[in-house]
Amino acid sequence: MTEPKFYPLSMPSLTGHEVEYVTDAVTSGWVSSLGAYVTRFEQDFASFCGVKHAISVSNGTVALHLALHAMGIGHGDEVIMPDLSFIATCNATMLTGAKPVFCDIDENTLCLDPTKLEALISPKTRAIIPVHLYGHPADMTAINSIAKRHGLWVLEDAAEAHGSAIGGARVGSLGDAGTFSFYANKNLSTGEGGMVTTNNDDLAHEMRTLRDHAMSSDKRYWHEKLGFNYRMTNLQAALGCAQLERADELLSSRRMLFDLYQEGLGNLQGVRLNRTANWAHNTYWVICVEIDGMTEEKREALMADLKVRGVDTRPYFYPMSRMPYLEAADTPVAHAVAQKGLNLPTYVDLTQDDVAEICKRFTDALTAGGYA
Ligand SMILES: Cc1ncc(COP(=O)(O)O)c(C=O)c1O
Repeated sequence: MTEPKFYPLSMPSLTGHEVEYVTDAVTSGWVSSLGAYVTRFEQDFASFCGVKHAISVSNGTVALHLALHAMGIGHGDEVIMPDLSFIATCNATMLTGAKPVFCDIDENTLCLDPTKLEALISPKTRAIIPVHLYGHPADMTAINSIAKRHGLWVLEDAAEAHGSAIGGARVGSLGDAGTFSFYANKNLSTGEGGMVTTNNDDLAHEMRTLRDHAMSSDKRYWHEKLGFNYRMTNLQAALGCAQLERADELLSSRRMLFDLYQEGLGNLQGVRLNRTANWAHNTYWVICVEIDGMTEEKREALMADLKVRGVDTRPYFYPMSRMPYLEAADTPVAHAVAQKGLNLPTYVDLTQDDVAEICKRFTDALTAGGYA
């Protein structure tokens, strides 16, 4: 008997000029952070986001750290962020010495709930990091207006949301700065990689300097202050240039996948897929499924069963405040939502038949486990 086809959670799509550009970079000998692809990728990404500046870095975690450090955030400061995110949002903040303060989420967008934000602002608060989780933009209109009233920086964590938008304006252009990840599973990938976007000239200059050990621009190997090596390589940027050429195709295929999954699973009792607010353009970075009555234990069993059936899944992030090294937070929505959600395979190469097959196996597993 032949094994059923296995569906991984994600796979990059590298079928355009990716190999050609990387080969060109290798052949040219420009394999570190100096090289034409780095400059081109930054320019192309800035125009993709509709911002003046894009500063490439090694990954999305250091992108956050670089931006926060350049904003002058450090010991004694507080930074507000949603409790539901990948841990990098919190860890990059802690790396500056600042304290993360966790805000609850809106159960429809899965992003920071602006109605819970103001109560968390203290004299120590310096910044807010809205996270555009799973491709859905946070409510930037409400968040920006609160931030403005209190004189706070707004740093968008757009690691999972390249191309998502509000009113035609793309994420990365909606706060003081935005950060992106190009990890292999993202909407656009460079293997590992990151970017900071901003319209703020001073911030952009500061980040470019800090990214390269704060080296003086007119005196080589002279450093007035502490800096970092957060540079992206020309090889990664070569991949990035090729991915950006295909941005429309890569982004629209995720939207099509969502429609197919919605068709396959949307009618199941007690099962809900990604929701999108009427003001938001969602890029559906990953397919989200929430199942009524799920507990962490039951979800583990369901995911194990799906693995046997050849479908890879992953659980929603845990609320960051649950991690043993962090303080507990009063975020009931994040806690409730986190335990009932999981992500299904989401990648460009999935065909209509593949999605139908995954939906069938998912439905069978739900029935077998007595969840549906
Ligand atoms: C919301 C969020 N922020 C930050 C990051 C960090 O990006 P990287 O893995 O490139 O360091 C990720 C990564 O996946 C993420 O999902």
